[in-house]
Amino acid sequence: MDIAINKRILLAVCGGIAAYKSAELVRLLRKSGAEVRVIMTEAAQQFVTPLTFQALSGHAVHTALLDLTQEQAMGHIHLARWADCLIIAPATADMLAKLAHGLADDLLSTLYLAAESPVFVAPAMNQAMWHKTVTQENVAKLKQHGVSFIGPESGEQACGELGFGRMSEPAAICQTLLNDSTSGALQGVNVLISAGPTREPLDPVRFISNRSSGKMGYSLAQAALDAGANVTLVSGPVQLTAPAQANLIKVETALEMHDAVMSQIASTDIYIGAAAVADYRAAQVEAKKIKKQQDDNSVIHLQKNPDIVASVANLANKPFTVGFAAETDELESYALGKLRSKNLDLIAANYVGQAEGGFDSDRNALYVYWADGQRHLAMTDKQQLATQLMSLITEKYHEKNPT
Ligand code: PMT
Repeated sequence: MDIAINKRILLAVCGGIAAYKSAELVRLLRKSGAEVRVIMTEAAQQFVTPLTFQALSGHAVHTALLDLTQEQAMGHIHLARWADCLIIAPATADMLAKLAHGLADDLLSTLYLAAESPVFVAPAMNQAMWHKTVTQENVAKLKQHGVSFIGPESGEQACGELGFGRMSEPAAICQTLLNDSTSGALQGVNVLISAGPTREPLDPVRFISNRSSGKMGYSLAQAALDAGANVTLVSGPVQLTAPAQANLIKVETALEMHDAVMSQIASTDIYIGAAAVADYRAAQVEAKKIKKQQDDNSVIHLQKNPDIVASVANLANKPFTVGFAAETDELESYALGKLRSKNLDLIAANYVGQAEGGFDSDRNALYVYWADGQRHLAMTDKQQLATQLMSLITEKYHEKNPT
């Protein structure tokens, strides 16, 4: 299962036997990292109690349009603004009709009108009701209005009949919501990620480089895209295919990576330096292949490369800046040193040179530090880890840039 990127999901439960499945949906969404709030229609409360959803979501359940306490703060408007997406599951024929015709006589229908975020609907009803022309007209109308439908599925129904009308399984609904990049917590945010190694040429055929495969940075690019961000990926030479929606800039040397990053930085909201940038380059690149000498020893003079992440973090108008620290030992003290000396907002430190994790491994673990906190992200595959790190970055970015 994918992991949600701080998605704020508003689940509306209507009255139908499938309402019990929505309890599992809340559990799955929360397990995936999403924040979930629940509203229930009056009929829904005949099938499952608000207490069930309160316990599973960790928040009070909203049930009434004219709630004395909530209405002071314009409860429905507030909820509509809060949500990254609204999912109605199960959605009854009655509710589809209401929404298609713009009625606003209860909490859910009013909230739907106030919602500006993407709306998903998982219908559940008897197969004859689903096929009825008027229901299909309402569905077509809602689709025209931009509502996305998940299901219904065909199969045995609670009433004993067979056909279309079963609510989709919670896992399928959860997956659809997590895969939806139009409602992510980084919607409209420009994320710039550097990935992979750099190559510092010595002569036309030789170079200094490192073991970075680019997997960590490319996984972060995918995670940022999943969260709805616009992603630019500045990549050193790797054997990976970049996510199709990312704007890929290929570079080879640290100087090229520096220039590519700086050319994008003015429009960047979050910069993540996951690349293993060579600290030094050859002071002189030979035009011809260096020949073997008589001496047993040979010396290559090196010159310092610019520190890209520090250059970004020291800009007057710096984006939220995330660095990595690759260490063989004393991880915490070196990472904290880099966090401060490079003026970073957050640093993700990993052990390298060990049997598992770090360079060119499919798995990794991270120790993440920021000015007043830290979090350990346990060993897992790099895509999962990237999603968890992106979730944390998103949280800290929004804390620093409240909207
Ligand atoms: O690519 P993979 O095989 O998946 O491996 C992932 C990784 C181990 C490369 C990645 O997780 C990682 O740790 N990347 C940073 C590697 C590194 O160069 O770390 P560092 O501690 O030397 O540098 C600290 C930070 O400064 C990094 O954000 C680095 O990108 C940045 N830096 C370093 C030197 C330089 N000239 N410019 C920089 O921006």
